[in-house]
Amino acid sequence: MAHAKKLMRALAGEAQAVPPVWLMRQAGRYLPEYRATRAKAGDFLSLCYTPDLAAEVTLQPIRRYGFDAAILFADILLVPQALGADLWFVTGEGPRLSTVTAQGDFDALKPADAIHETLAPVYDTVRILARELPAETTLIGFAGAPWTVATYMIAGKGTPDQGPAHGLREGQPALFDALMARLTEATIEYLSLQIEAGAEVVKLFDSWAGSLQGEAFARYALEPAKAIVAALKTKYPGIPVIVFPRQAGEAYVGFAKATGADCVALDNSVNADWAAKHVQIDGCVQGNLDPKHMVTGGQALIDETRRIVEAYSNGPHIFNLGHGITPDADPENVHRMLAAIRG
Ligand code: CP3
Repeated sequence: MAHAKKLMRALAGEAQAVPPVWLMRQAGRYLPEYRATRAKAGDFLSLCYTPDLAAEVTLQPIRRYGFDAAILFADILLVPQALGADLWFVTGEGPRLSTVTAQGDFDALKPADAIHETLAPVYDTVRILARELPAETTLIGFAGAPWTVATYMIAGKGTPDQGPAHGLREGQPALFDALMARLTEATIEYLSLQIEAGAEVVKLFDSWAGSLQGEAFARYALEPAKAIVAALKTKYPGIPVIVFPRQAGEAYVGFAKATGADCVALDNSVNADWAAKHVQIDGCVQGNLDPKHMVTGGQALIDETRRIVEAYSNGPHIFNLGHGITPDADPENVHRMLAAIRG
């Protein structure tokens, strides 16, 4: 039976003249109402762990723009924190974590099923959203993919080339594999409880998949995604999964099929005509407008938006950016983009 929600219809394989649309990081610093709620929470992590406020910032872009999906407000680094890592955010610099670089660091981590104690407020946020979202809006839950989360846990921060994580996987493969296995298990636990709480779709963010090549890509990006999708499909066969192996390039081809995912999200380094031909033939794709257009606007924003809608118009497509909307984006440009999509 056809689903009433536009996003669910795209995930079921339906091509639509007007695609469903949402934006990565749609709740964020470019919105004055987000900045106000974040100030009320005090800091970013308090915002993530206060269900009423996390639900409020999730709903803000839905009220302002009427997106077809809301994404749970949280962060991929809450999972390492729930496993026992220290986590804090340095203003203007980004996340900092205690590192996992030796066997003793790994041994100090909690088992995967112990994460729920810390993450319980996130499930409460999902429950509030499931109740409060408009009937036509799909609720997306998410987690970081094991490789991307491991890059932060190993380096203790974001890195330009994921060097420390590559060093550990080459230098101490047994320790690295143990960390990947723990993260895979924790991710399945975390997404399962988001689904139990009311998430209708889940998305796996592998933001640094592009730094893995060949055999390493297969082993650390594709295989963990496949294991997570398989575990979720066994328990929740009706819940679609979106995978985002960012910067995968040619490796986007066949990725959804190989992992069993319902949709692959494309970053903006990928040409839309190429992706329609080589990736969308397998099913739904999401993406992939360059986020810079949300800053620069003008006719280029309208032209590029229309070009992307047109390129994917013969198959199932969820319109999105190729990466998160940035804090310097103009909120009015989002309205202009929506007008170009919805007419
Ligand atoms: O998309 C959404 O609106 C949902 C919420 C969400 C956030 N982070 C909120 C957030 C999601 C899905 C994420 C995912 C995330 N977090 C990723 C994967 C996607 C990507 O962007 O590649 C990564 C790598 C992180 C880790 C992270 N969190 C970093 C590197 C930073 C600092 C960078 C920055 O933008 O400041 C964060 C903080 C963060 N997560 C913010 C938001 C809205 C900004 C925090 C603030 O309000 O100051």
